[in-house]
This record gives sequence, C-alpha cells and structure tokens, in this order.
Amino acid sequence: MARKKTTITDLKAKKKKKEKITMLTAYDYPTALAVDQAGIDAILIGDSVAMVVLGLENTLPMTMEEMIHHTKAVSRGTRYAHIIADMPFMSYNTSKGEAIRNAGRFLKEAGADAVKLEGGITVAEEVSAIVRAGIPVMGHIGLTPQTISLLGGFKTQGKNAEGARKLIEDAKILETAGAYAIVIEAIPAPIAKLITEAVSIPTIGIGAGKDCDGQVLVTHDLLGLFDRFVPKFVKQYTNLKKEMIEAFERFRKDVIEGEFPSAEHCFVIEEEEIKKLEGK
Ligand code: KIV
Repeated sequence: MARKKTTITDLKAKKKKKEKITMLTAYDYPTALAVDQAGIDAILIGDSVAMVVLGLENTLPMTMEEMIHHTKAVSRGTRYAHIIADMPFMSYNTSKGEAIRNAGRFLKEAGADAVKLEGGITVAEEVSAIVRAGIPVMGHIGLTPQTISLLGGFKTQGKNAEGARKLIEDAKILETAGAYAIVIEAIPAPIAKLITEAVSIPTIGIGAGKDCDGQVLVTHDLLGLFDRFVPKFVKQYTNLKKEMIEAFERFRKDVIEGEFPSAEHCFVIEEEEIKKLEGK
C-alpha cells in the first residue's frame, strides 16, 4: 500500500490496534529526510536541540524564533511523518492568548502538524485553549526538562506512590483537556504501564519501559553524536561521532599529503585556452 502522511487519527488507531508508534527527533533538513525515509511515524523538533546541537546546558534558553527556524527545515525534509514542534520554555505558560498565538505560528509559518508542551494539571487550561483553537497538542509528563530547577535536576520521576498517583492524574487531565498523545519521560516502567492503561490516547515513552504505546529517542543519542552524558534509557545504534572523526582525519591526511583533490575532483580547461592565456 502506498505510504501516506501520518495523522493524529492514525496514531490513535495504532494504540487501538496495539501497533507500536515510533518517533524520533530531528532539527534539520537532512536528518528529517532520513528519519522520514526510514518509515518513522512522527518527527519531533524537540527543544533538546539546545543541548545536542547548540551545546547549551539545558533547554531553557530556546526561543520561538529558533524553534520556528528548525521546524521549517524539518518540514522541508518531511513528506510522510507527523511533525510535532516543541513549544519552548515561557512560550505557553504566561497566558492562554500567548500560548494560542505561539502554537499557531508553528502550524502557520513552519509547517508543523502539532505542538508539544510540558506539564500536567499546571498547563491543562493552556492545552484546552490551544486545542479549542484547532491546534493538536501532545502532552509531556514525568521528567520535564523545562522545569529541571523545580525537579532538582534530570531525575527519574514517579518513584513513590504519591508521585506516581500524580502522574496518572496528570495524564488523565491532559486527555480531558484535549491532548491527542502524551510523552512520558524517565519514570518507572510499571507506572508508565498504568498510565498507558488509564488513558485512551497514545503514550510515547522515553525511559518509561516497553508498555507505552510508542517510543521516542533523541536522534543524536541514538546515533552516538551526543556524549556529554548518556542517560540509562538511551540505546546507541551506531557511533557517528567516531565515524565523523575518522572521516575528518582522513580528509586532513589527504590534504597534507597531496592526495586530495585528485584529478577526478578538478575542473578542466582546453589546452588551447591555457596557451592563449600564456600568450603562445
Ligand atoms: O526535546 C525533546 O527532544 C523531547 C523528547 C525527549 C521527548 O522532549
């Protein structure tokens, strides 16, 4: 069957049919092309770009303009995958009006299909407002990197009964507010399973065990391109950083030794023209 663009209806249907959802991050055109061609269901322009591409300590400094810039590049490279843009810190929690305006920009200007924002009960009103404006919203609970100051760092969440109960409540509140899916980050697998059973919308886990309806990874983690720290939940499928260094070293050696460029990489000019140039 010919592949068609993935919609939120397709993602919800996958949960019903117990088919796993796949999601990866991308922040640029070539990565989007590759992720899309690999058949991944959804591409997230995560604000993780701050850390894995821009070298920042955390995700807080990302601005709307920067996220729009990356989202536009990903949209240009994506034909089939569902595209979700991460709303940056302070772009949705100041007022409902601002939340709607900023969410709308990702669809109007950047080609996203949906937005993602972090929080449960604390952002329920904003989620409802954005959804009422006709913009699909993906929630994000558990370890929410935009509130690391409150959480006390990049720490596993929901490790006691009270914390776990709150996460289940948050998931239900997001569903009621109109979210069409929820990312669940860094929580014990049994709690993610309870959340997945408690809501009818898909859960997409990262560090949340195999019982979520889908899985997401930060692409730079999966490719071995980000090694400042490697969370326990990351599986490195390759080591592109090593391959890049090897390629750069080979280029350096070739240039120093006169091996590059060779004749095949050079442009030619007719002998006649050279003679004319030399006045012969
Ligand atoms: O910013 C991001 O990449 C994310 C994923 C970790 C889900 O939010």
